[in-house]
Amino acid sequence: MTAVFDVCVVGSANLDLVATVARLPGPGETVPGTSYAEYPGGKGLNQAVAAARAGASVAFVGAVGADAAASTLLSVLAADHIDPSYVGIASLATGRALIGVASSGENSIIVVAGANGTVTADDLPAARVVLTQLEVPLPAVARAMAAGRRDGAITVLNPAPAQPIGAEILQWCDIVVPNEHEVELLGGVAHLLALGARAVVVTLGADGADLHTAEGTTHVDAFAVTPLDTTGAGDTFSGALCARLAAGNDLPVALRFAAAAGALCTTRAGAVPSIPLRAEVEVLLNEA
Ligand code: RIB
Repeated sequence: MTAVFDVCVVGSANLDLVATVARLPGPGETVPGTSYAEYPGGKGLNQAVAAARAGASVAFVGAVGADAAASTLLSVLAADHIDPSYVGIASLATGRALIGVASSGENSIIVVAGANGTVTADDLPAARVVLTQLEVPLPAVARAMAAGRRDGAITVLNPAPAQPIGAEILQWCDIVVPNEHEVELLGGVAHLLALGARAVVVTLGADGADLHTAEGTTHVDAFAVTPLDTTGAGDTFSGALCARLAAGNDLPVALRFAAAAGALCTTRAGAVPSIPLRAEVEVLLNEA
């Protein structure tokens, strides 16, 4: 019998090259770095790890190069029990993200897609929830959402990094999870609901999130934490949300879990290393 995964994530995997700085440089400016580290990351890999650590069985559909960075990223899949069968090995280098993290916790990121640009999503495993973002080619994003809808999965799009996309993708998305900037680029909440989304979750950083449906808007409270590094927090939110939806939680319950997971992610350095386990999220939920 073919396995049905809780969550299938179609997306990017990067090696993150991270410099911490007192403040991020402006255009043309050089600032001194205070530390340097390399972490596994990429929006897709972060989301897959977040879903797995939240308790879901996960398949990751992506691509890496035939290089040392790929070994680092593939070992993350193994450690988090994520099925690697749908990861292609490309002739291009594994994706890289050059990240500056300021002492405020804010970041700025340059992504060199490399192998991520070869992801096609031609072959997806069966899953209860299909999640993707915009760090792989848009035809692959459209294919993933359309295939998920056809096969009866809940289709979830995190439209990051921000770029304008149209109905060729959005018509297949059950739940869209943009931040405030991304939702504007996509034409606004009303437009997304009119295209067929049953929910639009606008993430608001330290202010929580707003859940918009045809019935109205409800606010999801943030969890008060002291942020060290916000890299991967949005990905953690999306991945954890999908894990809880696959487990049968309704949206408000799944969103509260996602908000707690995203908050915890900001308290630690790096993308993948900062993503919390389900038990840690439950401690925060019980304390609140
Ligand atoms: O969302 C955070 C991620 O964006 C980082 O891990 C980096 O790889 C970039 O893709």
